[in-house]
Amino acid sequence: MSNASIQDKQADFQQQYADGPFPALVVNGDDNLDLSSAVEWVKAEKSRLFQALSDSGTVLFRGFPLKSPEDFDAFIGAFGESGFTYKESLSNAVRVNLTPRVFTANEAPPEVGIYLHHEMAQTPLYPSKLYFFCEIAADEGGETPVCRSDVLLDRMKETMPEFVENCRDKLVKYSLIMPSIDDPESGQGRGWQSTLGVNSKEEGEARLQKLGYSWQWLEDGSLLTTTPALPAIKKSANGREAFFNQLIAAFLGWADISHTGVHKIAFGDGTPMPADAMQKVCDMAEDLIVDLPWQPGDVALVDNYQVMHGRRSFVGKRRVLASLIS
Ligand code: FE2
Repeated sequence: MSNASIQDKQADFQQQYADGPFPALVVNGDDNLDLSSAVEWVKAEKSRLFQALSDSGTVLFRGFPLKSPEDFDAFIGAFGESGFTYKESLSNAVRVNLTPRVFTANEAPPEVGIYLHHEMAQTPLYPSKLYFFCEIAADEGGETPVCRSDVLLDRMKETMPEFVENCRDKLVKYSLIMPSIDDPESGQGRGWQSTLGVNSKEEGEARLQKLGYSWQWLEDGSLLTTTPALPAIKKSANGREAFFNQLIAAFLGWADISHTGVHKIAFGDGTPMPADAMQKVCDMAEDLIVDLPWQPGDVALVDNYQVMHGRRSFVGKRRVLASLIS
């Protein structure tokens, strides 16, 4: 390593897998390191850091001199990858942009936990990586749980091979109701105009058609949408297969829409997702979670194809910012 004061460390919150610790932990021990030196260090170490990300699925940077959204923006910029903007995404979470590539992670209230998911895997447009930055840590709770989906899939193949084959062969479809206006009280409260980036029903329908969705307008002005059949298993660049989808968060957290006669999660052929199998998957994923214990200034780089993330409920003020990579 080019700078002796920045080192790979071990900590008791990590899990150990055959390919190394999860997450990988990189700690700066130099109190005098300034932002521009940190940026230069990242540029010099970039290929090694991306290798660590590929091996582990998550890299946690601790002790770097980052205090503001602008510092975080500069740190991400050092990795030299192009951003995936919230505006063009189909994310259903309510967020606020702070710099062109940095936004608040989710405006859902503190008592609302967010279940494990791969970012935007319930849409055809998803980022490959995510950066999180802890500006303010909560008084209590507020960790970011992360879970290796490749390890989860390996365990599922052993204990529920038939379900895995169904996910692989039949693909999955998600249905949800987009409210008529943004609802910040919900974890999935983004209104249809802003989710679809449109101003009228006609524009909304044109966008959905282009994306292969089906839809239905409901009496209260909200919009019931169903995605095209999407893969539930994805191979990463490193050759590992992962349980890449939004099934856990949708199963545990999404609003029930059974009054519409539509299942919120189904296989691509329309058959409903078996609840007993889903509960088993949720329990197995829960066992694999590492809770990232945020300290102010921490940055986590997450491989969205290998690792799911969520948010624990919290007490106090917490500000964790995010940025997405195409
Ligand atoms: Fe997320």
